[in-house]
Amino acid sequence: MDALIQQIADCKAEMAQFDSQQPDAAEVFRIRYLGTKGVVKSLMGEMKQVAPDQRKEMGQRMNELKVLAEQQWEQLKEQQQAAPVAGVDTIDRTLPGTTLTAGTRHPLSIVRNEIVSIFRRLGFAVAEGPEIEDDWHNFGAMNLPEDHPARDMQDTFYIQQQPAWLLRTHTSSVQARVMEQQKPPIRVICPGRVYRNETISARAHCFFHQVEGLYIDEQVSFADLKQTLYFFVQEMFGSSVKVRFRPSYFPFTEPSAEMDISCLICSGKGCNICKHSGWVEILGSGMVHPSVLENFSIDPNKYTGFAFGMGIERITQLKFQINDLRLYSQNDIRFLQQFTGVV
Ligand code: PHE
Repeated sequence: MDALIQQIADCKAEMAQFDSQQPDAAEVFRIRYLGTKGVVKSLMGEMKQVAPDQRKEMGQRMNELKVLAEQQWEQLKEQQQAAPVAGVDTIDRTLPGTTLTAGTRHPLSIVRNEIVSIFRRLGFAVAEGPEIEDDWHNFGAMNLPEDHPARDMQDTFYIQQQPAWLLRTHTSSVQARVMEQQKPPIRVICPGRVYRNETISARAHCFFHQVEGLYIDEQVSFADLKQTLYFFVQEMFGSSVKVRFRPSYFPFTEPSAEMDISCLICSGKGCNICKHSGWVEILGSGMVHPSVLENFSIDPNKYTGFAFGMGIERITQLKFQINDLRLYSQNDIRFLQQFTGVV
């Protein structure tokens, strides 16, 4: 009798020591104490030996042990359900999350997209073409026959001499490809990278980016050219900017003009960017030369057109006040990060 009371006490003590952190604690506990071959069951088996007058008291003790064991088992089960998945409990969920830093658009892409969207609103479609060109599309079709002195205006990288393969010096080559494939009315802009053999400095680079435009239809006039480019400038730089056209020369346009805008840096007072003139040149333009139209079997007596071409680097320089062309291609993150959230 006393031995059984001792066994019950030992069992209680042992249960109190049970390692609740061990894997599968609840199930291990159940098998050990409450299973058919468990400790509590086997102690209950001992009841047979207990003298009848002591059965009541012993029964109560046994029952108490059983309830205790069942309570502990329930607790272990709850504990196990609440326990987080292995490893996860080391994470502090109150800490702020790790922010993913998104990349930023290159300033030239920002400005190119803006230029494209302005002309799109005027009904211009975007055309693209190859950077490696033949002589015809880059020069010949553009009214620059071989040995034409104007070829010297654009120092060319040749990949092969005969037949000539070169890196396009302007995206006029894309205009040539469009005229080859489409009939008027034609209204396209051609954004893209171009190459010229220039010594790299703050003001010049051996590659840069252009957006050229071409509009051919019946009765397209110089006034249309001026109005289109004026609209572009106002959308790009705001309504206070002034423009002026200066006569110029391009073999593929006649008459030709370069367009200046009032300097945005010094508002016309004079600074380094405008070389103290108050004006900055931003593009070349003109009425498409009849010979160019004829090269593509477009009748110059029926159709007229205007074309223009601008450097994206220059527009970006004015927009963001960037004073060195080399910054665009150095991939310096301190430079590139400044354009976060601009567009
Ligand atoms: N193709 C010329 C250049 O690269 C720009 C231009 C295009 C000028 C169309 C007039 C008309 O400099």
